[in-house]
Amino acid sequence: MSAVVQAFAADQLGAARLAATLGLELKIVQLHVFPDREVLPTVAPFVGTVIAYCPLNQPNAKLVSLMLACDAWRRAGATRLVLVAPYMCYLRQDTLFAPGQALSRDVIGRLLGERFDRIVTVEPHLHRTSDLGAVFAPAQVTALSAAGPLAGAIGADPTPVVIGPDGESEPWARAIGEALGAPHMTLQKTRQGDHRVHLALDGGRDLKGRRAVIIDDICSSGGTLEAATALVLAQGAEQVEIAVVHALFDWATARRLAEAGASRVISTDTCPHPSNAVAMAPILAAALTQEMST
Ligand code: R5P
Repeated sequence: MSAVVQAFAADQLGAARLAATLGLELKIVQLHVFPDREVLPTVAPFVGTVIAYCPLNQPNAKLVSLMLACDAWRRAGATRLVLVAPYMCYLRQDTLFAPGQALSRDVIGRLLGERFDRIVTVEPHLHRTSDLGAVFAPAQVTALSAAGPLAGAIGADPTPVVIGPDGESEPWARAIGEALGAPHMTLQKTRQGDHRVHLALDGGRDLKGRRAVIIDDICSSGGTLEAATALVLAQGAEQVEIAVVHALFDWATARRLAEAGASRVISTDTCPHPSNAVAMAPILAAALTQEMST
């Protein structure tokens, strides 16, 4: 078999799950950190397909290590480089919101697309991006949905009301609702800063006595889900749970969500996090079967 999974030590749990599901060996990339914080990765030499598992949370540090590792993999014999980045960074800046800004999505897309032959990711932040292939050209891109596995972890006993915090989450709330045989609705969100949002509920469903599950693709500052939890409880929901794909939040945010009234917070393992409850390895592995025969 001419494929191997390689990952940095920080991501070895998720990488090990993927390697085991694929029946491949996992090799850890050694990372030397110099006193001035420069890094030097050393990869395991391999001739064939290298599947690099690297969730791009904490992106500023990880991107440099990954770029250097790409060079090392190619020099060490890799004939094909596949990046599995279950969380893809820098997609939020997908347009110029103000004069003088950078178009981060395209800068990072080019950086990765020119180095990898294929990129596999989960629920990319695609609010204004219709063609992900163009962002990561010339690499081939596969974007996977986490709706099915997340719905399985949410469960339908009792049937919840699935709530998306903004208009963009509607297709996703709908997919999870349909998977659970549950109704869905969305809130109206106005962002007021990095940490603050205003949420409103236009008419909509009666939540009195209901189990509500608020879903989102990303929890970062937690401002969105904290405000959503408070609003949904104020509407009379008996129980509020939170389910996110990419858990980017810290322990203080987790405490604020609990204090706001969330009885359970779960996430997929696209980013290593204490709230991880849903393994994406089966879905990632299914998307990688073609790599096993090349
Ligand atoms: C917005 O576009 C996303 O879907 C999330 O709602 C947002 O990124 C969450 O960010 P925060 O946790 O900082 O409110």
